[in-house]
Amino acid sequence: MIVCVCNRISSRTVEAYAREGLGIDALRADYGLASNCGQCLDHALTMIDAIQQDQRLFSQAIVEDVTKVAVG
Ligand code: FES
Repeated sequence: MIVCVCNRISSRTVEAYAREGLGIDALRADYGLASNCGQCLDHALTMIDAIQQDQRLFSQAIVEDVTKVAVG
């Protein structure tokens, strides 16, 4: 799916950046995201926030599981 029509930036690209802990600034610098009409900005921000929130929750769950095993 295309997130930024003006610059032909796909959801895969946005997802890859988000998983690397990068955000809008990096996508704008590398691909020009939201640098033309700006209609893609809200959707891209929502995607990045959701992916990075999932990563935080997953990491937190792993820490909690390891703590349970270690503490008993
Ligand atoms: S859709 Fe991204 S700048 Fe226009």
